[in-house]
Amino acid sequence: MTRPNIDASKLTTTLTQTPKELLDEKELKFGKYFTDHMLCIKYTEENGWEAPEIKPYGPLAIDPAAFVLNYSVETFEGTKAYRAADGTINLFRPDMNLKRLQRSAHRIMLPEFDEEQLLECIKELVKVDQRFVPKEHGYSMYIRPNFIGTEPNLNLQYSREALLYVYLSPVGPYFPRTVKLFANAKEARAWPGGVGNFKLGGNYAPAMRPAMEVVSKGYDQILWLLGDDHYVTEVGTMNFFIFWVNSEGEKELVTAPLDGIILPGVTRDSLLSLARQWGEFKVSERKVTMPEVVAALEEGRMLEAFGAGTACVICSVSEVLYEGRQLAIPVDPANPDAVFGPMTKRLRDELLDIQYAKTPSPWTIPIQDNN
Ligand code: COI
Repeated sequence: MTRPNIDASKLTTTLTQTPKELLDEKELKFGKYFTDHMLCIKYTEENGWEAPEIKPYGPLAIDPAAFVLNYSVETFEGTKAYRAADGTINLFRPDMNLKRLQRSAHRIMLPEFDEEQLLECIKELVKVDQRFVPKEHGYSMYIRPNFIGTEPNLNLQYSREALLYVYLSPVGPYFPRTVKLFANAKEARAWPGGVGNFKLGGNYAPAMRPAMEVVSKGYDQILWLLGDDHYVTEVGTMNFFIFWVNSEGEKELVTAPLDGIILPGVTRDSLLSLARQWGEFKVSERKVTMPEVVAALEEGRMLEAFGAGTACVICSVSEVLYEGRQLAIPVDPANPDAVFGPMTKRLRDELLDIQYAKTPSPWTIPIQDNN
């Protein structure tokens, strides 16, 4: 017997009786403020996916013995909706996020779901709460799908019940400035054979104490190194890119490969595509080590470095602390106040123009407003 999958035509909507006031956009902090509604879709192994529901945003009732609360059976995503200058709202490559959610869910024995039907339900949620999508350039509506194992059962097999829910958070810039990274080779975010390439909540919790230690030292984030050769992997909230003249004398944009260690970021993939379309320099996904970065800095070959992710968009990196040395990374030598290096800014501007539908692109998925 085939069990029902997610079916957007069965979606029901219950509107809130207590709509929230809109905040001044300038006051939006990342992930602190949520809209009026959420999407919930329940699953049981016996009956498959139930009818999706949009209902007022609020607490979930979860059994204390649920898999998610004991064994971290949880995966999540982050994608965004953007308001274009003409007021229309677009999603940016949501199919990539839902594919990654499917992969992550599969890794932790959560059930398969129909990505296209889920996307239809998400579009409906954004439509219902469209008044919250910010108008200012640089601001957007962060969309957070969470997928959890809800079966109350301590037996360590897998969760035969699940809940996929999605909620929305209007957001401003994550880091409105350059960032300083602390290169950490002592602890590892991910390792060969591990799960660093899946978006599991369980990857983030163990990074919190090391991350807060570097924050207390005046750094923004950790640059995670791996192994004795100090392979430069990623930042945790962002993938990491270097723009340099490599040791062969070639101008190159380089980021870590999809070798199972780093998260396959949607922003990462988009920037690699844009830079490859320019065809102006070499674009590589390959392993780079910290000693190579130090050599490039010492030899004046380092041009720019930046982090890229959905929440953070793109941030220039101005410093890396490595083995007690403060390595100054060039941002824009022609402009000491610059927040972005010239190449980083060009990539960022092109990306934002697509996200805000200024440049037409198949990556931009409109939310039709039939009201
Ligand atoms: C995102 O960029 O969407 C993320 O998930 C980063 C988040 C952990 C702040």
